[in-house]
Amino acid sequence: MINIAVVGCGYWGPNLIRNFETLEESRVKMVCDLDAGRLVNMKRLYPNAETTSDFEQVLNDDQIKAVVIALPTKFHYEAGKRCLLAGKHAFIEKPLASSVDQCEELVSLAKRQNLTLMVGHTFIYSSPVRKIKEIIDSGELGELQYINSRRLNLGLFQKDINVTWDLAPHDLSIILYILNELPRRVGCHGKAHVTPGIEDVTHMSLNFSNGGFALVHNSWLDPNKVREMTFVGTKKMLVYDDIEPMEKIKIFDKRVQKPPHYETFGEFQYSYHYGDMYIPHLKQVEPLKVECQHFLDCIKTGAKSESCGLEGTKVIRVLEAASKSLSDGGGEVDVL
Ligand SMILES: NC(=O)c1ccc[n+]([C@@H]2O[C@H](COP(=O)([O-])OP(=O)(O)OC[C@H]3O[C@@H](n4cnc5c(N)ncnc54)[C@H](O)[C@@H]3O)[C@@H](O)[C@H]2O)c1
Repeated sequence: MINIAVVGCGYWGPNLIRNFETLEESRVKMVCDLDAGRLVNMKRLYPNAETTSDFEQVLNDDQIKAVVIALPTKFHYEAGKRCLLAGKHAFIEKPLASSVDQCEELVSLAKRQNLTLMVGHTFIYSSPVRKIKEIIDSGELGELQYINSRRLNLGLFQKDINVTWDLAPHDLSIILYILNELPRRVGCHGKAHVTPGIEDVTHMSLNFSNGGFALVHNSWLDPNKVREMTFVGTKKMLVYDDIEPMEKIKIFDKRVQKPPHYETFGEFQYSYHYGDMYIPHLKQVEPLKVECQHFLDCIKTGAKSESCGLEGTKVIRVLEAASKSLSDGGGEVDVL
């Protein structure tokens, strides 16, 4: 049995607590939050879990082997570092930290301490994203031409980070997982409408060395909740709509072809292919449950997590480049 502490039980923390409580190999020994009201709520739901507002109590409890950090982003690095220094495995919610430097420090500390460091890139543990990777890797879509990702809704406005840092870690972790490559250059436009200095609408472009291209649109200022990704290949196109309860992935046998050669403008015609659409079957499992089990497995076996600290760092590299582009007026910048 692996004793877990969950630090931060606002909006997301309770989902992590529920999963680690439900899994056979773990139990939530302690829940930590500065907000006494949140702790009362958690105690009512999980009477066996100890509650505390003192993070030191988590660090000093020798029975706690792993700590799950679901705090606002600005606390991720400090809390993660203290857990690793105290000899505890760390699961840090996305984004891993606030800078590449902080991420690299966490990665090397985890390595030195021989501990698991994992970041909450929940979507890479989901059935639709795994299916999309399988379909793209099989070559069914042909050569992937571009990806368009839209993650929009009204709120939840964050105080410490802009919408790119809040929502794009999902889009980016999915794109990097599927392409298995870091973009070479990133551009980002955006605007702050509600909180001065904190962009609530952003649009990012990613250029990859192999010619790959992706667009990521994030917003806290949209009437509709949208979670949609389009993958356009030379043979077929795939649309992933995460709002759909069952039919999340649709594969369209659609493409456009240029004539191989033509001599006069009159002969020049694009041909449009409209074929059938199909919906692949997906396993119905909660991605967070898969992710939590994976964390326990990594602790037990010492295996590298699929969303290890290095993967978390890649996402922060892109976010840092996007922030630089945003403050420079949107021009493309190198991903360092
Ligand atoms: N993986 C996902 O799909 C997913 C979804 C939502 C949020 N998240 C991530 O989860 C994290 C938390 O987000 P949220 O929306 O739950 O935030 P939240 O603001 O709702 O909750 C944060 C909680 O942390 C507590 N807190 C703040 N400072 C603290 C401190 N120093 N010590 C102890 N407790 C403290 C607050 O009282 C609050 O209850 C973020 O990193 C966010 O990006 C991940």
